Parts: sequence; C-alpha cells; structure tokens
Amino acid sequence: MTPSFYTLGIETSCDETAVAVLKGEDDIVSNLVYSQAGLHSRYGGVVPEVASRDHLRKLPYLVKEALAQAGIGPADLSLVAATYGPGLVGPLLVGLSHGKGIAFGAGIPFLGVNHLEGHLFAHRLSAPASPPPFMGLIVSGGHTSLVEVREYGDYRLVGATVDDAAGEALDKVGKLLGIGYPAGAELDRLAGEGDPRAIAFPRPMEGSPGFDFSFAGLKTAVLYHLRKHPGEKAADVAASFLSSVVDVLAAKGIEATRRYRLKRLVVVGGVAASLRLRQELARRGKERSIEVAFPPPALCTDNAAMIASAGAFHHLVRGESHPLSLAPAPSLSF
Ligand code: KG4
Ligand code: ZN
Repeated sequence: MTPSFYTLGIETSCDETAVAVLKGEDDIVSNLVYSQAGLHSRYGGVVPEVASRDHLRKLPYLVKEALAQAGIGPADLSLVAATYGPGLVGPLLVGLSHGKGIAFGAGIPFLGVNHLEGHLFAHRLSAPASPPPFMGLIVSGGHTSLVEVREYGDYRLVGATVDDAAGEALDKVGKLLGIGYPAGAELDRLAGEGDPRAIAFPRPMEGSPGFDFSFAGLKTAVLYHLRKHPGEKAADVAASFLSSVVDVLAAKGIEATRRYRLKRLVVVGGVAASLRLRQELARRGKERSIEVAFPPPALCTDNAAMIASAGAFHHLVRGESHPLSLAPAPSLSF
C-alpha cells in the first residue's frame, strides 16, 4: 500500500451525487453524498434529465468540498475513479466527463468503475480483513444479483432478477402506501410496527431451482390486495410484503453460498441497509453456520468511497487505467 496515494471517487449513476477521497486502498478521508431524492419525489421516481442537470450543478462544489475536507488539492491526487455504468446515461456522462477533466488537468490516470463491483467494495472498505472468496448479494434500486466473488476483480454471476429489482419493488409498493420516493428506509421502519403474518403474500421463486429472482408479481399482488382491502393497515401491508422480499433474498442468498461451498455471504446495495433483512439473514446464517456480513448502512447505499476503493484496487493491484475515450455503459453487468 502506498500511504500518499489519493484517489478521487465520483458516483453519479442515478440520483445521488457522491464524491469521496480515499487514501491508499481503504482509508476514507472524505465521503460526501448529496441526494436528489427531494427533487424526484413528486414524480414518484427518478427523472433522468432532471437528474443530469442537478449532477452538473452540484458536482463541482462536492469535488471542491471533498478535497478541502481531505486537506489536499487537485495536484495531490494520484487517480480519478468514476462510475461508467450501469445507470442512466445522462447522469453517468456528467460524472465521467467531470472525472476525466480532473484527471486530464492533473495529468494523472483515470479509471471507469462498474457500479455493481463498486457495491462489493463497500465490504472491502468496512472489512478489509475479510477477503474473498465469498458470495455477494447485491440488492439495490436497480439490481438484485448473486455473484460469486472468487477474488476482487474475478466474478461469476450466479443469479439475478428477471424483472424488478428488490429496491424497485420496495419503492413501488411504498408509492402504493403513500410513502415518498425512495421508500425503502421508511417502509422498513413502518414494517417494524406491523404484523408480518397479517397477509400471506407469495414468496416468488423461493422454491424454484437456480438463483434468479422475480419481484414484479409480488408488487402486483400488493396492488390487488389493496384494491380489495382499501382499509388494510399500512404497517401490516409493509410488514407482510417486506417479510416476503426478505424471505426470498435470505433463502436464495444462504442457499447459493452453501451450494458454491462458500463460508461467507456479503450483502451490499441500498436494500442491505434494511434492518429486517439484516436481522433475518443474521439469524439464518447462524442456523446454517454461514457468516453474513453487511457494510454499515452509509456504505450500503450509493456512495463514492466504494467507487474510489474499486478504482484504487484496479489501479494499484492490477495496474489498470482507462483511456479518456471511455464511454458510459448504461447496461453494464458482470
Ligand atoms: O444502492 P442504492 O443506493 O442505489 C442503487 O444502486 O439503486 O439502492 C437504492 C435502493 C432504493 O430502492 C431504496 O428504497 C433502498 O435502496 N433502500 C432501502 C433502505 N435504504 C435504501 N431499503 C430498505 N431499507 C433501507 N433502510
Ligand atoms: Zn447502487
């Protein structure tokens, strides 16, 4: 590890403008996240053009502040790492172009980071002494994937959602319950006040072979239930729906870890901040002698420290960098 190696991380793939400075491979010296949620909440979801314009407006100030908090200037940076996919093309373009400009101006290397790989690096930051191999469960607003992490940089996709992501389902059901966007955190809180056994929602694909997920039908089941029972207690709906999502994620996550003969399941992405998911997975992991690890909630939701960490790894350990011609890749996968 090079102690004076500073990486500037930039994340703008969706509706968070995030900038971080990382020292070496795992020392977070500044980590700023500006959420545009308030801007999009009245539309019930992210409006791409509004997101692009707001990233453009906020990003230069966040970079300045992140460097100031780190006590360094652009000339002290060693690397710039920015998310280049997956995500919304306009927002990606803003972060990518800004990052390239800083790298070019400072005469330092630039690296584009896969946002999904970035989520896995939240674990590397929070538990550097707990390296691969492990099973990664990425649960976010845009993705629900199981990934075998043989080592950092070496991944095998084991399963993914065939329709909605878990977070997307949470946000859509939250909207049905009158919760503003994004609804995950509030739905998780509300569920704590309800009875998870009040309504028997389906557990989609829980018993099916393989490790794919499906959450679109479950969301529709909630919609139909609410139409039939308009007076249903919101906390009971939240608790019953969330327990169905959590059951499926926990069952598939633990089973995939076991099937691939791994001892650890690492859960990352915004939905990994859910208290109910954390509690249920910890319980099932104990039962099956599988260690379940979660980064702290602030590193589960979108942030740039994880992007800087993935970038620093690829550059310092693997010797990689990208040309400034690197284009955004909205549909990037593993
Ligand atoms: O990883 P993330 O910040 O952004 C994407 O890459 O999509 O994940 C955002 C998702 C949203 O669907 C949001 O509702 C959900 O994570 N989320 C939560 C919590 N905090 C955010 N879901 C459950 N419990 C939370 N505490
Ligand atoms: Zn994310």
